[in-house]
Amino acid sequence: MAARGVGRLTCLPLCSQRSSRVLRSISRHLSCPGTVAAKVRNEEQPPRGAKTGFEDRTLKKRFSEVQKERREQAQRTVLIHCPNNINEKKFLKYLSQHGPINNHFFYESIGLYAVVEFCQKDSINSLQNGTHTPSLSTEATIPFKSRFLNLKLKNPSNQISEQSFAHTNNQLPPSSKKLFELLNYAESIDDQLNTLLNAFQLTEENVRLRHLTCSLIEDIAAAYFPGCVIWPFGSSVNTFGKLGCDLDMFLDLDEVGKLNVHKNTGNFLMEFQVKNVPSERIATQKILSVIGECLDNFGPGCVGVQKILNARCPLVRFSHQASGFQCDLTANNSIALKSSELLYIYGSLDSRVRALVFSVRCWARAHSLTSSIPGAWITNFSLTVMVIFFLQRRSPPILPTLDSLKSLAELLLKEFFEYYGNFAFNKNSINIRQGKEQNKPDSSPLYIQNPFETSLNISKNVSQNQLQKFVELARDSAWILEQKEKNQPSPSSRQPWGLAALLMPPGPHHTSLSRKKKKKPMSEKVKGLLATIKSNSTDSFAGTPGKRTISTKA
Ligand code: CTP
Ligand code: MG
Repeated sequence: MAARGVGRLTCLPLCSQRSSRVLRSISRHLSCPGTVAAKVRNEEQPPRGAKTGFEDRTLKKRFSEVQKERREQAQRTVLIHCPNNINEKKFLKYLSQHGPINNHFFYESIGLYAVVEFCQKDSINSLQNGTHTPSLSTEATIPFKSRFLNLKLKNPSNQISEQSFAHTNNQLPPSSKKLFELLNYAESIDDQLNTLLNAFQLTEENVRLRHLTCSLIEDIAAAYFPGCVIWPFGSSVNTFGKLGCDLDMFLDLDEVGKLNVHKNTGNFLMEFQVKNVPSERIATQKILSVIGECLDNFGPGCVGVQKILNARCPLVRFSHQASGFQCDLTANNSIALKSSELLYIYGSLDSRVRALVFSVRCWARAHSLTSSIPGAWITNFSLTVMVIFFLQRRSPPILPTLDSLKSLAELLLKEFFEYYGNFAFNKNSINIRQGKEQNKPDSSPLYIQNPFETSLNISKNVSQNQLQKFVELARDSAWILEQKEKNQPSPSSRQPWGLAALLMPPGPHHTSLSRKKKKKPMSEKVKGLLATIKSNSTDSFAGTPGKRTISTKA
C-alpha cells in the first residue's frame, strides 16, 4: 500500500530554487508587521476538484490587500431571497436595468437566495431606490433599508412554464457517505488528504458570501459608527476554514479616525467630543452591547442574538439566517486578525500544510474531540497551531523550511499522531513563535502559547479528560495508519482504509477495529512505542497495563 502513494511522491523533489524563493518572500512578509503573503481570488481558494498537491504557488498579494479587495467586492453586492421557481435569465435581465452585473450565484438555505455582484456601487443605490418596504396585514414591520432584499413574482405561473430554473451552488460539506466513497476510491493516503481538502475547503462562492455577510453587518454597525469596518477573521480567511465553519467578525473602529487625518492642516487640530469610560474593556462592552441591540431589533435575518460581554474577549453571537452562518462579532481584537494572517502565511507555504490540518480537524471532529459548542475541548485553532508546531519540530523541520516535504507528505499524518501521542503534555508547552517545547508556565493540561499575546494560553479551556482522549485517539490512529500501510485493501473492497478508517465515528465499526487490533500481531514499531511509554511512566505518563492515563503532575 505504501508503495502506491510514496512512489509518486518521492519522484517529485521540491525544487530548491522555488523553495528558497518562497522562503525569501515569507521572511520579507514576516519581518513587515501587518502584511502577509497572499493570493488573489481563485488562487486564494483553489476551486473544488482542483489538484491542490503540487501547484507552483507563488505568493503575490498581501493578506491586507486581499481583504480590502474582498470588502470592496462585497460592497457592490446584494443578497436577494428569491422564489423557488425563479427564471435565472429574466432575473438577471430585470436586475441589469440598475447596471451591469459582474458575478452572481444562487444557493439554498431556508429558501432560495441569490448573491449578485454589480460592477458599480451606484447600481445598489438605484436598486434600493426602486425597492419598497412591505406592509403586512397582521404584523408591524420596521422599515430598515439594507442590501438584503426579497423578490416576489407578480405572475408565478408565467415563470414556471419557461423551465429555466436557477442552478444552485452548494454551501455544505459532503455527507459522510459521500466522503467515505471518495476516500476509499483514492489511490493513496496522500490522495485521500487532498480529496478531503477539496471536499471541505471553503469554495469561492462561500468566501464571497462570508465577506458579503460582514458587509451587511457593517452597514448596521455604521448606523452608530459611520466609517467602521467589519473584517472577517479566523478560519473564514486564514485558508483553514471548512464549509460550515463559523464566521468570526471583528469591528474595527480604528478606520473611523483614519478617514480625515490629512485634513488637519495648519495650527489647529479638531477633535470629536467623546465620552470617557474607565477602561478599553468597558468601552468594547458598551459598543458591542448597542450593536447587539441593533442587530436584534433591526438586523434583517439576524436571529438568536446573544451578548456575551463578560468573556475574556467580549462578543455578540448570532445566526445570520439567510447565509446560514453562526456569527461571532468581537471588537478591539486586532491581535486575532494577526493570528489569521500568520496562519494564512503557513497555509500559503505548501498546500500539504492545509491538507494535513484539514485531515486532523476532520479526524478530531469525527471523534468528538472538537465541538461547535464552546467547552473543555480542544478548538480547531489550537489543533491548527499544534500541526504547525509539529511541522516545525519534525526532523528535518518542515516549517518554515520546505526541504523534503515532497517525499514526506504521506508520512506526515502518521507522524503527527505519533508525535502528539508521545508529547510530554504534563511538562511542556507548545510555542510556535520559537518552534520549541518549553516548560509549562502553569498547570493547564494543554498549554499552547498565543504567538502574539505570549502570556496567554490559547487552549486554557481544555480539560485533562479531553487531552487524554486526544492522546489516546492519536496513538490509536498512528497504529491504524501503520497497519494500513502494510495491508491496504483494494478500492473495490469498500472497506474503509487509511484516512477513511481514521474518520469512522465511534460505533460498531470502532469495536471491530479494536477487535481486529487485538487479533493482529503488534508491529515492532508499536511494541517499541509502548515500551517507551512504559519506561517513561514515572516521568510523563502513569499507566496500568491496557489502560493509558496521563499524569497530571508537572
Ligand atoms: N483566537 C485566539 N485565541 C484563542 C481563540 C481564538 O487568538 N484562544 C483567534 C484565532 O485567530 C482564531 C480566531 O480567534 O482563528 C477564531 O477563533 P475560532 O472561531 O475558535 O477558531 P477558527 O480558527 O475560526 O476555527 P473554526 O473553524 O473552528 O471556527
Ligand atoms: Mg471560527
